[in-house]
Amino acid sequence: MQNPATPATPESVRVWDPVVRICHWSLVACVMLNEFILEEGDSAHEWAGYIACGAVVIRFAWGFVGSPHARFSDFFPTPQRLRLHFDSLRRGIHPVYIGHNPLGAMMMLALMALVVSLGLTGWLQSTDAYFGEAWLQELHEALAEGLLVAAGLHATAALVMSRVERVNLIRAMITGIKHFR
Ligand code: HEM
Ligand code: HEM
Repeated sequence: MQNPATPATPESVRVWDPVVRICHWSLVACVMLNEFILEEGDSAHEWAGYIACGAVVIRFAWGFVGSPHARFSDFFPTPQRLRLHFDSLRRGIHPVYIGHNPLGAMMMLALMALVVSLGLTGWLQSTDAYFGEAWLQELHEALAEGLLVAAGLHATAALVMSRVERVNLIRAMITGIKHFR
């Protein structure tokens, strides 16, 4: 297999394989559709929710078998990685990562967990046992609000870190290539 970290030019590195990128943007599209466009609880809403969960499941599996920077082993936010990251920040150094930085990775895991929890609480509402349960509707709504806040922070952090690290992280999630300046 080709090593995705092979530099395309000396200043650019192929980081995100197509599975990572397709999962990411499908996830964004489905979440946005369900938060702002589709009628809540409609069958299109259910479909979009399940597709989002499918993207998370595929991405999770890809975290074990995917290209080097897609693997959890590359970026899982272990206490040691977090400590090193904070130590650098405390010394005024902003480390530049080829893959995910450990704080971004924590947010990534939180976003994935929120999407799966929404799928679960949404599905439960369609079962005979939990149909019409007010607490479940409220939990689903609270999770949806939490996801919006988290995604807002995540997108803002991606923009801010792009400036700080002088690497366009959003373009990299589209093209797969990080250009270091
Ligand atoms: C990415 C996944 C999902 C997101 C972001 C999402 C988001 C939302 C939002 C924002 C609402 C409106 C809440 C309110 O203001 O009352 C809602 C309602 C609802 N969703 Fe989802 N949803 C997701 C997945 C699902 C799934 C997979 C199902 C079912 C299979 C589902 C079933 C419902 C139902 C039945 C309601 C209406 C609840 C009520 O009557 O208050 N959702 N969802
Ligand atoms: C519904 C909203 C969103 C969700 C659920 C979401 C979820 C995720 C996840 C799970 C990852 C990890 C990617 C992977 O390794 O598979 C990620 C990374 C990323 N996302 Fe999002 N995302 C959302 C919205 C956005 C938006 C609106 C932007 C653009 C402004 C964005 C930009 C990025 C970037 C640049 C990365 C890579 C960060 C890095 O280089 O470490 N995301 N996102």
